[in-house]
Amino acid sequence: MFTLDRRSLLAGGTSLVALASLGGCERILDKIANRPVRKDIASLATNDPILEAYRDAITQMQALPSSDQRNWLKQAEIHLNTCPHGNWFFLPWHRAYLMALDDIVRKLTGDTTFSMPYWNWTCQRSIPAPFWETGSVLRYTPTSNTINGIPTGPRTATSTSQLSDVIVGQSIINTIMGQTNFQLFASGSATALRGGPRVYGTLEGTPHNAVHGFVGGAMGDFLSPLDPIFWLHHCNIDRIWYDWNSAGNANTNDPIYTNFSLNGIFVDGDQQSLDYQVGALVLAPLLTYRYEDPQLCVSRIRRLDELTLRKLLEEGRPQAFTVLEELPAIANDLTISGRAPTRAGAILQPEAARASMEAISNSQLVLRLQDVKLDTKDENFFVRVYLGASGSDQLNPESSHYAGSFAFFEGGSGQEHDHGPVTFLIEVSETIERLQSEDRADFANGVDISFELVPVRDDERARAATMRANVNIGAIVPQLIDRNISTARPGEPEN
Ligand code: C2O
Repeated sequence: MFTLDRRSLLAGGTSLVALASLGGCERILDKIANRPVRKDIASLATNDPILEAYRDAITQMQALPSSDQRNWLKQAEIHLNTCPHGNWFFLPWHRAYLMALDDIVRKLTGDTTFSMPYWNWTCQRSIPAPFWETGSVLRYTPTSNTINGIPTGPRTATSTSQLSDVIVGQSIINTIMGQTNFQLFASGSATALRGGPRVYGTLEGTPHNAVHGFVGGAMGDFLSPLDPIFWLHHCNIDRIWYDWNSAGNANTNDPIYTNFSLNGIFVDGDQQSLDYQVGALVLAPLLTYRYEDPQLCVSRIRRLDELTLRKLLEEGRPQAFTVLEELPAIANDLTISGRAPTRAGAILQPEAARASMEAISNSQLVLRLQDVKLDTKDENFFVRVYLGASGSDQLNPESSHYAGSFAFFEGGSGQEHDHGPVTFLIEVSETIERLQSEDRADFANGVDISFELVPVRDDERARAATMRANVNIGAIVPQLIDRNISTARPGEPEN
């Protein structure tokens, strides 16, 4: 029936074998057809049973002894100790983490249909109102500002702080959804959860990271799951992954990815250890839960029919990150200061711009920002990248010169952390095309690259942190990457 023989996919710890013994295939199909719905929090009243169950579960989990793996802090420690960031296990790991929590909430509250709602920050730019109610566990009012040196303090964002367009707006979502290359979408390849190079794609490097910094407090570091908003943030990331797949984009079929086991990391509602395999996790939104479409501003996406989608998810595709051409590094050891908008002055060689223009249909030009380091743990800012900007009036995200943004989610205060230099991939083909068609840059002499540090919220704390910050970029390497356009798009059956 399904190429699924792993436990845990249907309902937390319930294995297919156990389900089958409950009454055979019809029961399984029933269970799949009636799988819990992950709703947009914007559509939920504060007394909705979903939010009541979530509050109830958090209260219980906070009161459980620390010997119980379902204890709220214990759950956050799973994240602290094992979460992968800056690699392609980021998406499946956090998916499994959410599924395990769903099961714990169901068990503790008896609400067997519970599934985490999502916070669609593209349409709802502030932290949703139920997370600010006085006396609510959703408000997150920690009793200490650090645990073992790791920040766990209250949110820096207030109920009126707004996320900006360049972090979560529709155009960044369009950029993300338009990625045809799995690693530009889902972050770089890896063979282990941690310890390898960290290469951020746009989804993780921009909205994911920036929302952590925007919320601030515990959310700015690796004990972030202590803040109940964490789970709704990640539910939205997971939904975007599902939407990207639904639009016809395949995940990699590299066995290092599909055979990777997340064993012994998560527990279900009975504290039983869960084993998840990445190749099975990619099917979860078709079998274990489903997403309600966003209720506010977002336009509906065109989706593959479910059978085609299931096949696409089961099979994946070869998704090599093929570098067709690598140009010499154009800046070494470049420091960007937060004190003023900075023309970094790195020059994108005429060859790179030309190569990008010539190869535009089957390749894309990516700026690989390597060995990026911060001199602060106060990640209240993000970085904007511009091409060919000459005056400060061109340093704004509305201008043709704007190429993209990225943010940091490093933690970095504890020994367990996976910190150190990271890499961001900024795709610039479209910007180059636009500048060329509008005749806005001197392609014969190379195109200037500028960077600007921008506060992640419009408040004093974020502005001060930005002023103090320095970001060091080890090298900028322009690469022409294969666009991987073999990916099936809706209405284009593969052959
Ligand atoms: Cu592993 Cu958004 O955090």
